[in-house]
Amino acid sequence: MPIKLVTTVAELHTESARLLTAKAGTSQGLVPTMGALHEGHAALARAAVGQNDVVVATVFVNPLQFGDAVDLDRYPRTLDADLALLEAEGVDLAFAPSVEEVYPGGEPLVRITSGRLGEKWEGASRPGHFDGALTVVAKLLHYGLPAAGVAGAGLPAYRAYFGQKDAQQLALVRRMVADLNFPVEIVGVPTVRSADGLALSSRNRFLSDDEREAALVLSRALHLLEERAAAREPLDLDSAVALVESQPLVALDYFDVVDPATLEPLAENCRETPFRGEALALIAAKVGPVRLIDNVPLSS
Ligand code: PAF
Repeated sequence: MPIKLVTTVAELHTESARLLTAKAGTSQGLVPTMGALHEGHAALARAAVGQNDVVVATVFVNPLQFGDAVDLDRYPRTLDADLALLEAEGVDLAFAPSVEEVYPGGEPLVRITSGRLGEKWEGASRPGHFDGALTVVAKLLHYGLPAAGVAGAGLPAYRAYFGQKDAQQLALVRRMVADLNFPVEIVGVPTVRSADGLALSSRNRFLSDDEREAALVLSRALHLLEERAAAREPLDLDSAVALVESQPLVALDYFDVVDPATLEPLAENCRETPFRGEALALIAAKVGPVRLIDNVPLSS
């Protein structure tokens, strides 16, 4: 079925309710994006289409989560290509609102505060970023709530899909939904990588060939930790850090092993003790002018 593009909240509600009824659907999935879609987003859409009767993707570049007006202007806008990708994955509806539609009264006075969890790691170098991201995610989750479903089938299930690549955003969205009782199940979708290991990101397009080659050290260092964790060896984070720092085009910001829910460092697991349990290895670095993040789950 061709994808339908809507730009207002009213149309979104009408169209998603119509689709739920037409398909006698019992579930609705939401895939929030900022556009400039790539295979990582396709994986989110695929997961949503596989698990829900009706799927809505949102394409909205949220000014609230950009610290810098230049970054906001520079953010790629590729709606036609985005719609083609979403349609190929079987998404029913694309919601691409204007800034005025989402923030009709201008910047919102009342916002979601991401708290301590939003101040560390990415939050430390991008103050206010997660407050802005969570505020729009809260709004998008409300917009995407399924209408009362088919008679007798109870309320439709509601799921929203986020990439594990943005591990801190995913942890914060899960926490917001739990803390504020949003009626939605949050589904984390594994990071998609190029064959050489680089995590897909809309920022990769800004890397030169040399920078792209240098950026591979991030996923190599993470992979090293993954192997040591799986083998229940000490992680030896220091040697993984040294590997990244040996690459002259890469300026490391942080590299640590953390609890997957709280993102607090698990220092004792990182060095001499054999690794046991579940953790997340997080890394961020500037490669030339481009800031990249990546992570892998560790488990033994
Ligand atoms: O991950 C993103 O693309 C954005 O942060 C999101 C979740 C769509 C909110 O603007």
